[in-house]
Amino acid sequence: MESALTARDRVGVQDFVLLENYTSEAAFIENLRKRFKENLIYTYISSVLVSVNPYKDLEIYTKNHMERYRGVNFYEVSPHIYATSDNSYRSMRTERRDQCILISGESGAGKTEASKKILQYYAVTCPASDQVQTVKDRLLQSNPVLEAFGNAKTLRNDNSSRFGKYMDIQFDFKGAPVGGHIINYLLEKSRVVHQNHGERNFHIFYQLIEGGEEDLLRRLGLERNPQHYQYLVKGNCPKVSSINDRSDWKQVRKALTVIGFSEDEVEELMNIISSVLHLGNMQYGGDDGGSACITSDTQIKYLSRLLGVSGTVLTEALTHRKIIAKGEELMSPLNIEQASAARDALSKAVYGRTFTWLVNKINGSLAYTDESNKNSSVIGLLDIYGFEVFQYNSFEQFCINYCNEKLQQLFIELTLKSEQEEYEAEGITWEPVQYFNNKIICDLVEEKFKGIISILDEECLRPGDASDITFLEKLEDTVGSHPHFVTHKLADTKTRKLMGREEFRLLHYAGDVNYNVNGFLDKNNDLLYRNLKEVMCMSENKILTQCFDREELTDKKRPDTVRCVVLSHVSPLPNPTIVVPCAKAEFTKLHVTKILDYSELLHFNCSQVKLCVCVCVFVCALVFRYKSLCPDTWPNWQGKLPEGVSTLVKHLGYKPEEYKMGRSKIFIRFPKTLFATEDALETRKQSLATKLQAGWKGYTQKTKYQKLRRSAIRIEAWWRGILARRRAQRRRKASDTIRRFIRGFIYRHQERCPQNEYFLDYVRYAFLMNLHRNAPKNVLDKSWPTPPPALTEASEHLRKMCMQNMVWTYCKKISPEWKHQMEQKTVASELFKDKKDNYPQSVPKLFVSTRLKEINPKALQALGTEKMKYAVPVTKYDRNGYRARPRQLLLTGDSIVIVEEGKMKQRIEYGALKGISVSSLSDGVFVLHVPSTDNKQKGDVVLQSDHVIETLTKVAICGEKADNVNINQGSITFALSQGKEGVIDFTPGSELLVAKAKNGHLAVVSTQTSG
Ligand SMILES: Nc1ncnc2c1ncn2[C@@H]1O[C@H](COP(=O)(O)OP(=O)(O)OP(=O)(O)O)[C@@H](O)[C@H]1O
Ligand SMILES: [Mg+2]
Repeated sequence: MESALTARDRVGVQDFVLLENYTSEAAFIENLRKRFKENLIYTYISSVLVSVNPYKDLEIYTKNHMERYRGVNFYEVSPHIYATSDNSYRSMRTERRDQCILISGESGAGKTEASKKILQYYAVTCPASDQVQTVKDRLLQSNPVLEAFGNAKTLRNDNSSRFGKYMDIQFDFKGAPVGGHIINYLLEKSRVVHQNHGERNFHIFYQLIEGGEEDLLRRLGLERNPQHYQYLVKGNCPKVSSINDRSDWKQVRKALTVIGFSEDEVEELMNIISSVLHLGNMQYGGDDGGSACITSDTQIKYLSRLLGVSGTVLTEALTHRKIIAKGEELMSPLNIEQASAARDALSKAVYGRTFTWLVNKINGSLAYTDESNKNSSVIGLLDIYGFEVFQYNSFEQFCINYCNEKLQQLFIELTLKSEQEEYEAEGITWEPVQYFNNKIICDLVEEKFKGIISILDEECLRPGDASDITFLEKLEDTVGSHPHFVTHKLADTKTRKLMGREEFRLLHYAGDVNYNVNGFLDKNNDLLYRNLKEVMCMSENKILTQCFDREELTDKKRPDTVRCVVLSHVSPLPNPTIVVPCAKAEFTKLHVTKILDYSELLHFNCSQVKLCVCVCVFVCALVFRYKSLCPDTWPNWQGKLPEGVSTLVKHLGYKPEEYKMGRSKIFIRFPKTLFATEDALETRKQSLATKLQAGWKGYTQKTKYQKLRRSAIRIEAWWRGILARRRAQRRRKASDTIRRFIRGFIYRHQERCPQNEYFLDYVRYAFLMNLHRNAPKNVLDKSWPTPPPALTEASEHLRKMCMQNMVWTYCKKISPEWKHQMEQKTVASELFKDKKDNYPQSVPKLFVSTRLKEINPKALQALGTEKMKYAVPVTKYDRNGYRARPRQLLLTGDSIVIVEEGKMKQRIEYGALKGISVSSLSDGVFVLHVPSTDNKQKGDVVLQSDHVIETLTKVAICGEKADNVNINQGSITFALSQGKEGVIDFTPGSELLVAKAKNGHLAVVSTQTSG
């Protein structure tokens, strides 16, 4: 908001009618300057666009810019040449009325650039087809060609248009550009033969010399050096750094082709251009009689070839003048001065007429030929050279300034008329403001019989010695009293000092200009001697034959004078006309005054309310724009619009003198009133925007929430449905299962049938699953689930398989040591299980290879190479008296060795071992039976071992005596020496006791626990 409200101070107003002090030159310039500083080169004065030349590329002419201005209301966007272009295009389309855009301004102000921008805008934004594209191309390409032939470097502008151009762009009913027409006027022909210092001739001469191909130049007899041509060096600056003649030549050549020039036509055109250069280089000498003669033959040779005329005829025509006296034709020789003038006249005529031919040729290629389409409309573009004031102003400046004066008149008429119409239509009494109407100056110049041009024409036609001076005198006589006319003779002393004797001063609307009358008569006559015209009519150059018509020779009618030319071109401008005054950034007084006039013209006094209207707004637009500022009109005014405006205006607090109501418009007097309303609107917009934003945010959030909620409910419903369906399904499945189960249970004892198959399968399945879960995990675990009757057999198989598997797995995992252990345990089991009472206690104890802490080395020595397999401490009972003696029992591969402290006491080879006896009780006594025949032995050996199961198992294994182990109940009889027998009685008791009984037997009381 801040920026919008303060921007006005920084960048000024975009429409001068909004300036508080609109008549003040200072305020006007200040506004322009502010905007220019911000690179805002365009400003409106109502529908008039003021443009200031930035002399730099502002990048405001891109396609994006064109799009931005396309179809947008004039006031909605910042001022731009595109807005103006679009406005007239839309007016043309909607109102079906021809439009005209008039561009004026001093030289170098940017008129031609502006016209090019307008043309480009139409080329890009208007609808197109293939055929239209060609027209667009030709319209665009006509510019470089016309600029090459009609523009030149001047002191003010390196590309100054030296002719006026009015271009019609024709649009068909669809709005596509389909054709065009160009009217050129007042080409500054004098430039062909003379240029002021620092200026150049028309671009085409330099372009041809710099860019023309070698071949072409040779054919034209030209050298690649502009310094060699008299017509090109008058201004002493044939080369300019800002102009690239070579590349411009290429562009022109291309453009000529696009427009439709044939190679021959281009060749002939260049013949003419080069012939002008040759004419300029022609040298004259004088004979004794003072008559001129041509001293350079080469030029004549080239000229005769290039112009397609006979050399001798041309030479004669250039040095003589044909006089018709008493019906007889006489050739009067010219002096050098006259001959030079004739030559220059010919150059100007040839160039000027060729230029006109060129324009006509372009028109031919742009012509819209579709007769069936009568509904075409046109937009005219008038790019006129601006008001010119030099130190020395001649006939050309007079014509140019007159032309500008006429345009100003036209503008005044148009503006006044449209404003008048508007006030009348709105029912507002009006009275024009005091502004300067330049009609009086136009009349001074153009009035029949009394005007300057009429006097000039008359002076040209009058017999006798008419000269520029006599013309000046005639002027003094006829218009001397006119308030806008002054001569040296008529002026007061102060003015006289500023004027030459050969000058007259016109007080133009844009400033005072002194015109030097020298050459006025000649230039008005546009004098070309008849015999030179005749020669040109004989030319074989096709372009020249069109330029110099033979009928002209017989036609006695006077050629058009300046007035005719100007009037014929200014008058037909279509209405309405949009004006684009252009200015240079220095804002010269001359020009600003002129623009200011436009500004003033747009303000009028209303007699009743003494009101200077700054803005008039359509009531509907006002109500629409400001309705938010009044609660009664917001958000919409339902009643009649004028009442709406009254309500609005009352609420805004407008004082009666600040505005005036029309029928459909309201006229507001002071810009500040409008600005205050605008500022209020800006503030209001902010709060409205906040409100709207809040509303919108609320609405979007609410919508979003509702959408989310609806989605959640829907998802919930779906999910619930899914769950319920699943539950129902499960229940149904369960009841089916139960039903099947019960039915199966009822039929369980019958053969497999549909009624029980499910149950049977289930029972099997349940058994198998139970088995899967509870199968025994090791071989010792003997548990096994009870199988259903149908699976008893299978269960048994499975059990076996399971056991085998466990055994197999166990065996696979078993180490050799453990295997050995197990083998021994198995032997022990086979020998003692359920046979000897202390066997169960031996089961969990592992068998070892020795029970001795250490073995006496001597005993080992006594064993020799035999490997000891087992060693255990034992108690030996004597055969006599059964005294107990500690011994060690060693087992080797071959025998049982009984050792006492390293001393071998007895060796029993396994082969000699008859048997082993042991009681069934839990004692450790055992008898090794040896044959009684063996003298070495003194009978069977009675031993007692604390590890009797282990010891006997080892003996049985080492001696392979498993079958010879006897387990006795009650007593054991054993052999003593010499055929005697001993008996060992075993009785159970509470304490282990081994002693000789009274009966001479060895009594062994064994406990339940010892083993
Ligand atoms: N809108 C613009 N943006 C940038 N440069 C510009 C613009 N308008 C004009 N110029 C520059 O100013 C130079 C003169 O402009 P232009 O030829 O249009 O002037 P003119 O008013 O037609 O003058 P004359 O009356 O001499 O023909 C251009 O060559 C260009 O360099
Ligand atoms: Mg121009």
